[in-house]
Amino acid sequence: MLAVAVLVSGSGSNLQALLDASAGDPGFGSRIVVVISDRPGVSALERATRAGVPAEVVRWVEFGDRESFSAAICDTAERYGAEALILAGFMRILSPTAIDRYPNRIINIHPALLPAFPGAHAVPAALAHGVKVSGVSVHFVDDEVDHGPIIAQRAVPVQADDSEETLHARIRKEEHLLLPQVVKAFAAGRLRVDGRRVIWEES
Ligand code: GRF
Repeated sequence: MLAVAVLVSGSGSNLQALLDASAGDPGFGSRIVVVISDRPGVSALERATRAGVPAEVVRWVEFGDRESFSAAICDTAERYGAEALILAGFMRILSPTAIDRYPNRIINIHPALLPAFPGAHAVPAALAHGVKVSGVSVHFVDDEVDHGPIIAQRAVPVQADDSEETLHARIRKEEHLLLPQVVKAFAAGRLRVDGRRVIWEES
């Protein structure tokens, strides 16, 4: 069983998809040992508690810089024995030191088809650009924002009357299917990184 920490900042619907997969799929191969939020009071923390998973808050505002914040996140994850970090709606950027501590062991989900629309406002940026197709990317985290090797992507059509909310809701539906699939494959040791390419090996 791969022990993972899930990092969150908000509603935690992707966390919920992982909790459901880990409770419902005997072959999931991964156990969520802790949920860590950078802010208190978010519903992701309630979801963790409801599922009986330890919930921790590492407050960004308590740390003056990214380096010590990232170290505190890694220390908390390690305290629970986490072997990998899953960033599921985590709105902070980790320092290179964190990436060194978990090399190719940090996975992020992003609501656009990277390398298009990196950053915190991917859904409105895609809408404003007028793309007809957007989607979801799941990737390993490297030193640049929303840049590491892409593990999986799914396309989501953009409709003429979409608002940020309706498009994001359609994207989230795909996220909830894709993220558990990726974590399951990762836990099974099926994801091999070769430069920028991620090769899915046979199970
Ligand atoms: C998701 O769309 C994810 O791609 C992005 O932030 C959102 C988090 O949603 N990074 P939730 O908190 O999992 O509901």
